[in-house]
Amino acid sequence: MKRDTKVVRGGLDKKRNAGAVNTPVVRASTVVFESVAAMREATDRATKKREKVLYYGRRGTPTHWTLQEAITELAGAADTVLAPSGLAACTLAILASVKAGDHILVTDSIYEPTRNFCAGLLAGLGVTASYYDPLIGGGIAALIKSNTTLVLCESPGSLTFEVQDIPAIAAAAHKAGARVAVDNTWASPLFCNPLALGADLSIEAGTKYIVGHSDVLIGAVSGTAEAITAVQIAAGSLGLAVSPDDAYLATRGLRTLAVRLARHQENALKVALWLQTRPEVKRVLYPALPEDPGHSLWKRDFCGASGLLGVVFKQTSGAAVAALIDGMELFPLGYSWGGFESLIAPLAPGGARSARPWAAPAPGIRLHVGLEDPLDLIADLDKGLARFQKAL
Ligand SMILES: Cc1ncc(COP(=O)(O)O)c(C=O)c1O
Repeated sequence: MKRDTKVVRGGLDKKRNAGAVNTPVVRASTVVFESVAAMREATDRATKKREKVLYYGRRGTPTHWTLQEAITELAGAADTVLAPSGLAACTLAILASVKAGDHILVTDSIYEPTRNFCAGLLAGLGVTASYYDPLIGGGIAALIKSNTTLVLCESPGSLTFEVQDIPAIAAAAHKAGARVAVDNTWASPLFCNPLALGADLSIEAGTKYIVGHSDVLIGAVSGTAEAITAVQIAAGSLGLAVSPDDAYLATRGLRTLAVRLARHQENALKVALWLQTRPEVKRVLYPALPEDPGHSLWKRDFCGASGLLGVVFKQTSGAAVAALIDGMELFPLGYSWGGFESLIAPLAPGGARSARPWAAPAPGIRLHVGLEDPLDLIADLDKGLARFQKAL
């Protein structure tokens, strides 16, 4: 099946759904059994054989399984573990891959709260993290130590948009016995398949494009048969649970992922090309643009670009960016992205970097280009840039 078909049909199970197209919301903590033997059998099948058997709500219900199976098919994975947020999916993938005394390599372009987790809780558990240049490719081999168990990539970075050479990184990591996990949120499982590129774990902040409507927090970790077991055990030990209502809404969002992303891509490209013509703009950070330094890797490894992009100005100031943002009509100011709507945020990624400084003039802006008419979005940005110029 092609990817667009998997988005629509993945995990659909007529028996599970009692005839309905969608798996109903099964709300359950307690599940009751006919006998002690039935209780034991269900528990063993669920915990030891990892079969999808309803035995206690925290371990998943049919509503969760439909979503898990759909993401698993799309990611080309052995299985998928759900987490209560995208950040929880990132920290879960890390925790499942380390023990005290281990070392992990993390891309310098990583989502900042994941970096904060490494500096705080993870360091407290006796695991060290060091950061690598996202453009390092196979050169990562020189940074791998005898106790390195994980390389954590995010490609492209959600603020600076560098595309990473995942096959080269995976080859070097595997040679040294380390696992590779990729935060794949920008592309979603539709536009990039990190496992096919050699990664062991693929992480999604489902909150963004999978849900697609800015109203649910959810995360997912998909993995190879070898790597996902550790994630399943870690999630079970931590007691992570996702509300079935949220799993239902995420599944509903997923069904339209292909049509939404096609439009996000079309609109974002129009906006990006227009921004490139503007005298205020130094660079548009968007790998689908031929001028982008990551374009050839993006073309090789991705089958589309989403709606998130960055803008670096030639000359800028906090006051000018605030004047631009505060007057926007169709780009409200907010965290997150991936919903149907356009959003804007100031972009100043330099502060968190350590391996490869980000020296571009800041602040810039980050745009999530939504599903509105691109001509309206461009008109809104045109007025915003006039305010920017006036306030410089
Ligand atoms: C690349 C990336 N990964 C992970 C996350 C975390 O997702 P959530 O907000 O669902 O915790 C975000 C959120 O902005 C993100 O941009």
